[in-house]
Amino acid sequence: MERKIALYTEVCDLLHIKYPIIQGGMAWVAEHNLAAGVSEAGGLGIIAAGNATADIVRNEIRQVKEKTSNPFGVNIMLLSPHAEEIARLVIEEKVPVVTTGAGNPEKFLKDWKAAGITVIPVVASVALAKRMERSGADALVAEGCEAGGHIGELTTMALIPQIADAVSIPVIAAGGIGDGRGLAAILMLGAKGAQIGTRFVVSHESIVHDNYKKRIISSKDIDTTVTGRSTGHPVRSLRNNMTRNYLKLEEDGKSFEELELLTLGSLRKSVMEGDITDGSVMAGQIAGLIAKEQSCKEIIEEMVSEAITVMQKGWI
Ligand SMILES: Cc1cc2nc3c(=O)[nH]c(=O)nc-3n(C[C@H](O)[C@H](O)[C@H](O)COP(=O)(O)O)c2cc1C
Repeated sequence: MERKIALYTEVCDLLHIKYPIIQGGMAWVAEHNLAAGVSEAGGLGIIAAGNATADIVRNEIRQVKEKTSNPFGVNIMLLSPHAEEIARLVIEEKVPVVTTGAGNPEKFLKDWKAAGITVIPVVASVALAKRMERSGADALVAEGCEAGGHIGELTTMALIPQIADAVSIPVIAAGGIGDGRGLAAILMLGAKGAQIGTRFVVSHESIVHDNYKKRIISSKDIDTTVTGRSTGHPVRSLRNNMTRNYLKLEEDGKSFEELELLTLGSLRKSVMEGDITDGSVMAGQIAGLIAKEQSCKEIIEEMVSEAITVMQKGWI
């Protein structure tokens, strides 16, 4: 007997989107073209503020609004020197959704909630998840260490069910989700949606340099590595000259400041200039699965229909 399965969850209701898929905030990568592409395709597109100034982020927000009337979000990197200003900017610009990375957004939550913003902190542990729920977060992105960029300790497989049991707000899983099987899997683990990073890097709408996209497409399962464990700021990216030098310096016990010098501007170098040898090519472990560049619409619709197919097979 064939069962009818729709991929509509409470995350769709919360964010007013068609599919429970959100695009990860990605410094340098997630600008207005990508965000608008994902939002137009029925997911939630997100502009990454990264370390950008409020003026740059304001311009990005306005350009997304010109390209789509669908909801979108802004990801605020809390360690940015401009975080306070951008926290005010999202209120002024009536941004519907805010996600936060690199820390605890508690001090901004009251003002964001008063402005009607849906707030979704990114967390990598049960303790922070519970704390964010108590502070009034509407949902959480729980990110496993398979993800590209800055990572925590736990895998998506272990993290999602533990956070799903610990909180009653919706959990959106991130890290290692690259196709419909991954999407179906995280729903089985108790998540109500998926945040996708690496696969959207390789979309037509993504402005990253062709060298970066091709490097992801040609990568194998074991091609990512983690730098920065010694400093307490681990980052996952594709192995290259930069990561080799970085790991060597870490082995030699160099200080955080010396290591920082090596990565200063390195993501911009690879994303904008295509220097995938000495730049930072942040990508998740799922990079090895990504075989071609597609539009955001094709990526989302393919993932959703694959997820429905595997669930219809009755493995649940
Ligand atoms: C190039 C790149 C840059 C990223 N930058 C950020 C960022 O600025 N803020 C953030 O919260 N997460 C960042 N992330 C993490 C993504 O938002 C997302 O959670 C992650 O990519 C999901 O895992 P996946 O890559 O396996 O899909 C970044 C990821 C990548 C690949």
